[in-house]
Amino acid sequence: TGVAQAQGLPPLEQKDSYTVGFAQSESNNPWRIAETKSFQDTAESCGWNLIVTDAGGSAAKQVADVDSMIAQGIDVLFLPPREESPLIPAVMRAQAAGIPTFLVDRSVDEAVAQAGTHYVAFLGSDFVDQGRRAAEYMIENFEGEQGLIIQLEGTTGSSPANDRKSGFDEAIAGNEKFQILESRTGDFARDEGRRVMETLLQAHPEVNIVYAHNDEMAIGAIQALEAAGRKPGEDVFVYSIDGTRDALQAIIDGKMEVTVESSPFFGPLACETMKRYAAGETIEPWVKVEDRIFTAENAAEHIGEAY
Ligand code: AHR
Repeated sequence: TGVAQAQGLPPLEQKDSYTVGFAQSESNNPWRIAETKSFQDTAESCGWNLIVTDAGGSAAKQVADVDSMIAQGIDVLFLPPREESPLIPAVMRAQAAGIPTFLVDRSVDEAVAQAGTHYVAFLGSDFVDQGRRAAEYMIENFEGEQGLIIQLEGTTGSSPANDRKSGFDEAIAGNEKFQILESRTGDFARDEGRRVMETLLQAHPEVNIVYAHNDEMAIGAIQALEAAGRKPGEDVFVYSIDGTRDALQAIIDGKMEVTVESSPFFGPLACETMKRYAAGETIEPWVKVEDRIFTAENAAEHIGEAY
């Protein structure tokens, strides 16, 4: 606790059990459900009395959920902020109430709130690198003459949407073989991905590449393409991020080229990081998760462990 106090962060006692809050942003896709389950599965072995809330896709509700957890006197907060800005005041209120806060999977605007100062640490993937790796795989493997891309972005204002876009866009910048026809949000959701793809397909029938910021939107896009008589894997190539079971199946079926992994299994890492903090260790600002890549070469081998 000495180190924590020196940093201005709330200390955390070492004890057998903790009241822990996990304020989930929404539960409308397999990734979010797997993340929540990972916290629930870890609770008993880590000594957590776990309070889980579901903001149903509303940043305002997520703020209210955090405020209610603060009022209930939780010991520790784990938070995947739906968007980069709206959750910052709630993070600051948790800190002011003496509750060590760990951002999991998504981050907040670093210009306003920083790990080690306003919250303990960010636990998560390198989203810029995920976008870059999806682009690099496409650059290496796309055999057509000209790649005409529709990009389906994640939730507007969220760190994975911002970073997966910049990683991908930077990797193809200056490469004349690839051109982004249009980039639009599908809110990380399958239905929205399908609807947006239907519209964009009419505006840009020449599209031959879809880059989706997550697998749910990629699956939605595949449904829209097939409904329009297109052949994913033959005349349109789909690149994505996450590693869900449906995406691995789509790869096995030849309808998707790649999904760069973004692991939702944060429970064990959250437990270990919290315990290190309670033991007085200084936590690195970014506890990085290493991600794999799933393609036709290894999708069948990994589908059994997918969610
Ligand atoms: O923050 C991670 C992203 O959020 C996942 O890629 C997506 O599926 C989820 O909604």
